[in-house]
Amino acid sequence: MKTNILILIFSCLFGAFLTFRTQSVAVKGKLMCGSEPAKGILVKLIDDDGFNVPDPDDNMGQTKTSNDGSFSLNGSTAELSSIEPELKIYHDCNDEHKPCLRRWLIRIPSRYISDGENPQQVMDLGTLNLEKNFIMKLLLFCVLPLLMARPETAKKTSGTQSISVKGVLRCGSKPAKGVLIKLIDEDFGQDTDDMLGRVHTDENGTFELKGHTTEFTAIDTSLSIYHDCNDGNTPCQRRWRFEIPSKYISTGETPKKTFDIGTWNLEAILPREKHDCDH
Ligand SMILES: *[C@@H]1O[C@H](CO)[C@@H](O)[C@H](O)[C@H]1NC(C)=O
Ligand SMILES: *[C@@H]1O[C@H](CO)[C@@H](O)[C@H](O)[C@H]1NC(C)=O
Repeated sequence: MKTNILILIFSCLFGAFLTFRTQSVAVKGKLMCGSEPAKGILVKLIDDDGFNVPDPDDNMGQTKTSNDGSFSLNGSTAELSSIEPELKIYHDCNDEHKPCLRRWLIRIPSRYISDGENPQQVMDLGTLNLEKNFIMKLLLFCVLPLLMARPETAKKTSGTQSISVKGVLRCGSKPAKGVLIKLIDEDFGQDTDDMLGRVHTDENGTFELKGHTTEFTAIDTSLSIYHDCNDGNTPCQRRWRFEIPSKYISTGETPKKTFDIGTWNLEAILPREKHDCDH
C-alpha cells in the first residue's frame, strides 16, 4: 500500500517535470515624465506566480531606461503552466515629494509569450507618460519604511476649472481608431460624476479632449478609455481609467496646458481594469 502511494507520488512528480516549459517574452518602450525623457528608471520583467507560495515571483530580467527614456528587456523562465509576465516600473515622477518610489505594473498579454529561450516577437508598449496615476493610490514601493507622512499640500481650487488631454492609442502595431474616451470629474457625495467631455480616436488613433466644469471644490478628473483591443470574444469593452495629475487643472474655461498621456499600446493589461458595458 505504502509503496503504491510512493509510486503514485513519484509518477506525479515525474509527470510534472516533463511538463516544465521554458517560455520567454520581450518588451520595449519609452518612458517620459511630462515632456522630459525619464532616464535611469528601473524596469523589471517578472513572472507573476500569484499566490503560489512555494514559488516566488521569478525575476526574468531588469534594466534601466537610457538617456532618452527608452528600454528594451527580455527574459525567460521555466514553469509548469503558462507564465504571467508583467513589467514593474519603479519611479518618482509626479510623486509630490512622497518618500519611496511609485510602482507601475503592466501585464504582458499571452500572445507575446514564446516557447523556448528566444522571444519570437517584441511587445512595444509605446511612449508612456509616468505622471499619470492608475486608479490605485497606494502603489508606493519602499525599501525603507516610510519615514514620515508629509502634510498634504493640496491646493484648494474652486469655481470654473478646465482640463485638456491628448494622446495616441495603438492596438499592437495598428492605430486604435474609433476608441471612446471620456473625461470625468469624479465627485464624491451627492453629485453624480460629471462628464466633462467625450471623443473618439481618429484614424491614426489620436485624440485630444477638453472640458470644463464649475465646482465648489477642486475637481478630481480621470480619463476613461473603452476599447476592444486584445479582448477576444468577451462582450462589452475593456475600461482603462487614469487619474489626471492636479497640476494639469486650470482655472477658468480655457485649459492653459495639455496633459499628454503619450502613445499607449492597448494590448497591455493594467491593474484594476474592468469590463464595462454601460458608457
Ligand atoms: C534579448 O536580450 C539579449 C541580451 O540583452 C539581446 O541580445 C537579444 O537581442 C534580445 N532579444 C530580443 C528578441 O529582443
Ligand atoms: C493621419 O495620419 C496621416 C499621415 O500622417 C495624415 O495624412 C492624416 O491627415 C492623419 N489623419 C488625421 C485625421 O489626422
